[in-house]
Amino acid sequence: MNALPFVDINDHELFMREYWQKAPCVFKANLPESAQLAPDELAGIAAEPSSDARLVQTPVKKKKDWRVANGPFCAQDYDILGPTHWTLLVRGVDQYIESAPEIFNQFNFLPAWRREDLMVSFAANKGSVGAHTDFYDVFIIQGEGQRRWRIGEPVAADAELIANIDQKVLAQFDPTHEVILSEGDAIYIPPMVPHEGISIGQSMSYSVGYRAPSLSEAIDQWADIVHDTAQPTQRYSDEGAKPTEKTNRISQSDRFRMVQLLDQAKVNAERILGELMTQPVIVQEQADTSPITMGELSEMLLDPTIEIGPAAHTRMAYYTDEQSMQVFCNGSTHLLANAEESLIDALCSCSALDGPLIAEVTNNNELKALLLEWINKGHWGPYEV
Ligand code: SIN
Ligand code: CO
Repeated sequence: MNALPFVDINDHELFMREYWQKAPCVFKANLPESAQLAPDELAGIAAEPSSDARLVQTPVKKKKDWRVANGPFCAQDYDILGPTHWTLLVRGVDQYIESAPEIFNQFNFLPAWRREDLMVSFAANKGSVGAHTDFYDVFIIQGEGQRRWRIGEPVAADAELIANIDQKVLAQFDPTHEVILSEGDAIYIPPMVPHEGISIGQSMSYSVGYRAPSLSEAIDQWADIVHDTAQPTQRYSDEGAKPTEKTNRISQSDRFRMVQLLDQAKVNAERILGELMTQPVIVQEQADTSPITMGELSEMLLDPTIEIGPAAHTRMAYYTDEQSMQVFCNGSTHLLANAEESLIDALCSCSALDGPLIAEVTNNNELKALLLEWINKGHWGPYEV
């Protein structure tokens, strides 16, 4: 078994050139104490009704004896598990840890909108989710304890899986590399690279995954946009056509008329990308609040006891070129006519409006109206400080 290359992740040029989307490697990561969770804190998140949690039991003897359950989980769910061979995995944990940005920021040489979430797993001794591939890139940072990772050569998307089990486990896994990660060590795994992590004693892992929409997801989004914007009068039209002699035949002119209709369904690629990439991972249950008015928003912007910022689930991105500026928030697009890029950039990355941003928003009616819409849709919130 070979060792994986150890890289300096801060050498961004080298990492992007040699490893990103290409080859696995290991590196030293930043995992501050404040961003780490105790196992019972993770179990607390897994008990939340809107959490996305999974319990995976690894077979002890029989190869096929995988058991998988979906959360939320209560204390009794763990009682039956025993001391070894299981893993609790929770997605979207960044929404619950205030200092998650400290983990994310080390990867800001990649677009933040490409990031999916922080998934945290607790594994009992010998716990593993099995050898598998993911469609996403992932950085897995080791928290408390140790895990042994074995890595293989990339496999095809249709590689055979163990049949009739609820877990995606490769039927054949031929590892070529191995590494044991201790606290603060990390591994980068590109899409379709088989990997298997096995816990040595109890251990915690923090995975930063990257979202990459598939062609069919992009087409679905495109179709949704066309569906929402197309007029019933936009349809096939053959006004001025000549009488046909072959009544069952589609002629070249008929085909061209269809091409003209389909041409009307053009959607800008940045809109499809922005909307797909800003769709929230999970939305926590929110208290029902009545909509606020523009007057109330103006008062809130002046009130030092109120903070205005994005909700925990909110994802934002923007696009700009010579003709337009578009901001994307939780899967919707907003065209802006009167905003500086630097202002939108700050808005997309802030955790709450600070003094200068409040002043800018207050003086920009377009942005103020947008903020009001976001607040009333639950994308942003006024929070008491
Ligand atoms: C884990 O955290 O146990 C699994 C992560 C992965 O393999 O993607
Ligand atoms: Co994986």
